[in-house]
Parts: sequence; structure tokens; C-alpha cells
Amino acid sequence: MTWLITGGAGYIGAHVVRAMAAAGERVVVLDDLSTGIRDRIPADVPLIRGSAADRGLLDRTLARHAVTGVVHLAAKKQVGESVEKPLHYYRENVSGLTVLLEAAVAAGVRSFLFSSSAAVYGVPDVDLITEETPCAPINPYGETKLAGEWLVRATGRAHSLSTGCLRYFNVAGAAEPELSDTGVFNVIPMFFDRLTRGEAPRIFGDDYPTPDGTCVRDYIHVADLADAHLAVARRLAEQGGPGDLTVNIGRGEGVSVHELADLVGEVTGHRIKPETEPRRPGDAARAVASAARMSEELGWTARLGVRDMVESAWEGWCLRHPEAVTS
Ligand SMILES: NC(=O)c1ccc[n+]([C@@H]2O[C@H](COP(=O)([O-])OP(=O)(O)OC[C@H]3O[C@@H](n4cnc5c(N)ncnc54)[C@H](O)[C@@H]3O)[C@@H](O)[C@H]2O)c1
Repeated sequence: MTWLITGGAGYIGAHVVRAMAAAGERVVVLDDLSTGIRDRIPADVPLIRGSAADRGLLDRTLARHAVTGVVHLAAKKQVGESVEKPLHYYRENVSGLTVLLEAAVAAGVRSFLFSSSAAVYGVPDVDLITEETPCAPINPYGETKLAGEWLVRATGRAHSLSTGCLRYFNVAGAAEPELSDTGVFNVIPMFFDRLTRGEAPRIFGDDYPTPDGTCVRDYIHVADLADAHLAVARRLAEQGGPGDLTVNIGRGEGVSVHELADLVGEVTGHRIKPETEPRRPGDAARAVASAARMSEELGWTARLGVRDMVESAWEGWCLRHPEAVTS
């Protein structure tokens, strides 16, 4: 069986490529390198450079590599940008996906695994978010992920594909420093960025109804997330026929922004007291996954903790920002 991994040169995609290749799966990457990095892909994994919405390229690639499964990670993922450019996000994340699904169906692909996000839930007021918690995204990015899930499941039902939608919570860390996230969109790299410049990390709101007043999130190590892809991909391949597995990928444990800031100070040695800014619109007080379905369905649970995430992310950061290293 050969898996086409779209977005395999990205932060998460590169970890998925490594995990699946290391487990003996045959993989081929399709990436336009818009935010991806070629060097993240092992030399023995073929890289096709181009768009995951280019029908001609898809037809040739699926046929040439006899692809039977797709892991679709390629997407635009910045919430703020999606508010400013909704049409761009719908074109890339939804229209592009219809082209990929059409090509997959035409080529006889049997399994399709889709990168979804906790953003599909919006800001539910629940202790643990289960897969049954109603989806009510509050920005175009989350909307495109929910529409993507609908497309994937409907195509699976109509054309007898086994499908999986993985709703990632807050992804962090790196399996190797070279594979770390180069973006500064998530809280951990945002803290690193401020500390490297000698500035106080910013906490947005400390008057939420949480134990220390700051937002609580569920962080998942990207290496665990990659293993979850492997587990779901194998389940879909075994299944071989119609059926969908939509699952949260989190640890089921909440960590507050305050706790995270303390840990970042400890790990980096940059002990600058965070400063508090006003709340940002759209931030839920608490967003923690129920990780029960992944555990019950596949016996899969995350192994790595938040300290592993901060330490490995910091190693990656220091590789690219040597000035950040404290003596
Ligand atoms: N990083 C997170 O915290 C997070 C959380 C939830 C969901 N996700 C989802 O996970 C997936 C991967 O995210 P990431 O953090 O690795 O982002 P990333 O930007 O590092 O990776 C995306 C990859 O897709 C490629 N790409 C983008 N558009 C493409 C296109 N049209 N054709 C071919 N390649 C294209 C980029 O070059 C890049 O290599 C995305 O679908 C994202 O929405 C990420």
C-alpha cells in the first residue's frame, strides 16, 4: 500500500512522513512548499512539488505511485488570516479538497485521512470536549475544517472509502530540532520569540473562570500526533471499505497559559515575568479534549508530556535562533 501525504514538508506533515516511513509504510509527498521545507523530507521519500488541487498532477501522481491511501495535511491554517481572506481559505481548504477527493475516487484510492482541528468546536462551554460536542466554529479557518470533514465523510459514504478525521488540539514540540515549527503562531513559539528579544511573554486575559484566571488548553506532542496518524492509517487500511473514524487527538489534560509560561521560563532559563494584556476575542476559557475515543477504538494514548514539548520546541528554536541560548 502506498500513501500520498499532502503537506508532508510542513511541520506536522514531516513528522507524519517520518513516523509512517519508519514503521515500514510506503509514502510519497505532494507539497507546493508554500510554507513547507524540502529538507524536512528524508532523501529516500519521493517529493512531488506542486499543488494538492492540481488535478492533472494528482492523476499522474496517484497512478505513477499506485497510491491506495491519502493523508491530507496540506492547508492554510492561520485563524487571523482566514478572517481577512475567507475566500482564499475556502478556495484552498475546501475547493482544493474537492479536487483531491475527485482525483482520489477516480484513481480507486481506498482510505482517506484528513487533518481537522479542535477549531471545528468553536468555544464550547464544557469540561471535556467529546466528538459529540456540537461543532460551531467561530472563524473561517474552523469553518473550512468542518466543511472539509463533511466532504470527506460524504465522499467516503458515496464511494466506499474508509475515512478518518483527526481533530488535533494544540500541537507542540518536535521529534528532532530540525523538524520544529518555524511559525510564530502558537503560544510556545510566541513566548520564545518575546523572550529571545528580552521582552516579557504576553498572557491575554487573566480573569477567565479558570483556577489561575488564564486560559486552559490541551497540548499534544507532534511526535505523538504522528503516531496517531500511523495508528488511524493502519486501521483505515485494514478496514478497506466504508466507515469513518472522527477522533480528537489530545491528552485529555488541561494546562493553563500561566503554568505554561512558568515551564517555559524554567526550561529556557529566561525568567522574565509575563505581562497581562486584555483578553483576545474568540478565546475560550477552557478547551480540553476527551481522549477516550482514540483510546477505546485504537488503544492509542499520548506518551509525551508538556515538559517534553517545551524542551524539544526550545531545542529547535535555539537551532534557528542561537542568540536565544542562555549561558
Ligand atoms: N499546527 C497546529 O497546531 C494545527 C492544529 C490543528 C490542525 N492543524 C492542521 O494540520 C495541517 C498541517 O499543519 P502544519 O502546522 O504542519 O502547517 P504547515 O504550514 O507547516 O504545513 C502545511 C504544508 O502544506 C503545504 N501546502 C499548503 N497548501 C498546499 C497546497 N495547496 N498544495 C500542496 N501543498 C500545500 C505547505 O507547503 C506545508 O508544507 C493543516 O491542515 C492544519 O490546518 C494544525
